[in-house]
Amino acid sequence: MHFSSLVLCLTLGALLKDVSATGSEWCYTGCVNTPGYWEDLEGSYCGGKRQSPIDIDTSMVQTDPKLLNFTFVNFTSQHVIKTIVYDGHTVKCKLKEHEVEVSGGGLDETYSTLQFHFHWGHTEHHPGSEHKINGYRYPMEMHIVSLKKGLTVDEAVKDSTGIAVLGFFINATEDGHATGPWSMLTSYLSNKTDIEPQINLNLSINDLIGNVDLTKYYRYMGSLTTPKCNEAVVWTVFHEPINLHKDLIQLFPMKTGLPIAYRPTQQLNTRQVFASPPLSQHAPWCYEAHGKCVYSPSKWHLLPQSHCGGDRQSPINIERKNAMVDKNLGGFTFTHFNDKHAIKTITNTGHTVKCKLKENTVEVSGGGLGHVYSTIQFHFHWGLPSHDSKGSEHTVDSQRYPMELHIVNKRKDLTLTQAVETHNGLAVLGFFIEAKEIPKSSSSSSSSSSSGSSSSSGGTEHQGTNPTSHMAWTNLTNYLSLIKEIGREVTFTDEISIDDLLGDVNRDSYYRYNGSLTTPSCNEAVVWTVFKETIKVDQALMMMFPNSTEQHDVFRPVQPLHSRKIYTTYSASIAIAPVPIILFMVLASLWAFFI
Ligand SMILES: *[C@@H]1O[C@H](CO)[C@@H](O)[C@H](O)[C@H]1NC(C)=O
Ligand SMILES: *[C@@H]1O[C@H](CO)[C@@H](O)[C@H](O)[C@H]1NC(C)=O
Ligand SMILES: *[C@@H]1O[C@H](CO)[C@@H](O)[C@H](O)[C@H]1NC(C)=O
Ligand SMILES: *[C@@H]1O[C@H](CO)[C@@H](O)[C@H](O)[C@H]1NC(C)=O
Ligand SMILES: *[C@@H]1O[C@H](CO)[C@@H](O)[C@H](O)[C@H]1NC(C)=O
Ligand SMILES: *[C@@H]1O[C@H](CO)[C@@H](O)[C@H](O)[C@H]1NC(C)=O
Ligand SMILES: [Zn+2]
Ligand SMILES: [Zn+2]
Repeated sequence: MHFSSLVLCLTLGALLKDVSATGSEWCYTGCVNTPGYWEDLEGSYCGGKRQSPIDIDTSMVQTDPKLLNFTFVNFTSQHVIKTIVYDGHTVKCKLKEHEVEVSGGGLDETYSTLQFHFHWGHTEHHPGSEHKINGYRYPMEMHIVSLKKGLTVDEAVKDSTGIAVLGFFINATEDGHATGPWSMLTSYLSNKTDIEPQINLNLSINDLIGNVDLTKYYRYMGSLTTPKCNEAVVWTVFHEPINLHKDLIQLFPMKTGLPIAYRPTQQLNTRQVFASPPLSQHAPWCYEAHGKCVYSPSKWHLLPQSHCGGDRQSPINIERKNAMVDKNLGGFTFTHFNDKHAIKTITNTGHTVKCKLKENTVEVSGGGLGHVYSTIQFHFHWGLPSHDSKGSEHTVDSQRYPMELHIVNKRKDLTLTQAVETHNGLAVLGFFIEAKEIPKSSSSSSSSSSSGSSSSSGGTEHQGTNPTSHMAWTNLTNYLSLIKEIGREVTFTDEISIDDLLGDVNRDSYYRYNGSLTTPSCNEAVVWTVFKETIKVDQALMMMFPNSTEQHDVFRPVQPLHSRKIYTTYSASIAIAPVPIILFMVLASLWAFFI
């Protein structure tokens, strides 16, 4: 144990006098080896490619549904702090061994907490957190350092996930008393001493964290922020800061005499920063048919941060006779819908099959939207694995279709976080999907020859005529067998464009209304476009959705319209129909083309 704590001191830059036989000394300021030279220190990793801290650009973070709540053991225990020491680089509180633990929060294992320490600057104009958020540096930062349970420090620094650090920003406030846990802690601040006084502080870690929301955090792979900067750290940086009176913050530079105690931010390089999902996604929700969970659609409004009980919810039943013609609903401009490399991944979310698109590639504008929208993803809603299955979300005159495709677009001038809080932040394009009639006679080969004839049987309109579209749906559904497991995400390598999937469907004829997301949190941020004509897809391919994923009836029931209006594109034929009976006939024949 002596050995391991000595190594710990060396590695985490603890006891200054012990550092390195080569005599290489480091500092933040006022010595030869300032941060720019740390990479030259012997055995240093400080010049590596996954260094910390970083500046977190929140518009580039990716939500990871696995980043759920942490489990903290003994964070509420008093008397876990063993010593407080200023070591020349930081003020560190060492904890009693094997008492405090961290797990969950997307960490694969349990981590045993060793110490926490601080980073600071010296004045209001020279703040000193290590991480930055969108370029903003907070006055201070606290790091809670834990080692993978069972590993020595020596082993942990060699393991790419050997150390877990929880980072908390500290914000300066002017109101409130400078008393309580933090004033207790700061009363122990002092200049550098050789002794480590044992203390008996009646103070828990939670007393210091206060009411920071521990479900909101960023996650990335990085390093220790002091030499040797070992690239062994799973970083957690919480969104919400700890609010601390500015007079207490001032005590850190004043009492230690150290004006700067943070490393500058490092390049992100090829790393991705992840974010925990919104709280509503922590609680499991489900569709009615899966009745086993607590939060079925009739209870979605009870979920944390839910908008599902609002009065502009989706989907809805579209009563065609009540839809009002709006001449502003012109044609759309679809940008890069023909890009055959735009689909990045396909994933089984447990609620749908979702295809994520490359960022900032595909766009939609026009169509009366009034803004340019970036296309983020598309996904599906379906019913049962049977031939007469109906699983669309929207219904038209109470008729439900077999499936529905949703293409989700975000206003280009907003971040996703802003978009879900803006009444027209999102635009979703909804397409119904119906079975293509397979001509019985010519069962083999392409269906393109039969195009013009609006033909034969069953009232089903002109055949799915587009062999490219058929090929695209075949390729897409081939992926379903690779993502049977919930959470599985695979890279999309086939060359399929969104145009290919939409085929010949008429994109000028549609309904428009204001609504919401149809899954929790049901944010009322969506301008809905529901196209009248259906996409035609082989029955067998449609059935692969419920069959492969073993999920069925993945649609939300229709919601009350309340005072909302549904608008429709102008349709000349309907407008001029003179006599009810003729109107009926016209409608009957139009039915085939415009549903
Ligand atoms: C998350 O919190 C819930 C209750 O708040 C708890 O039951 C669950 O075990 C927690 N999950 C983890 C991974 O800690
Ligand atoms: C939490 O701390 C108590 C002593 O305060 C200790 O007995 C217990 O083992 C600790 N829990 C864990 C899981 O280590
Ligand atoms: C930081 O503190 C200031 C008061 O000094 C407060 O207005 C602000 O909201 C706090 N920031 C956060 C993110 O809590
Ligand atoms: C540390 O502080 C004490 C009094 O608080 C003072 O006597 C001593 O000289 C200081 N030491 C250094 C190295 O500044
Ligand atoms: C420690 O603090 C708690 C409240 O924070 C208090 O209830 C308890 O009496 C204190 N114990 C001692 C020994 O001061
Ligand atoms: C949607 O809501 C906005 C703001 O309330 C309103 O200006 C717009 O006309 C509505 N659009 C539709 C299609 O109802
Ligand atoms: Zn640190
Ligand atoms: Zn949807």
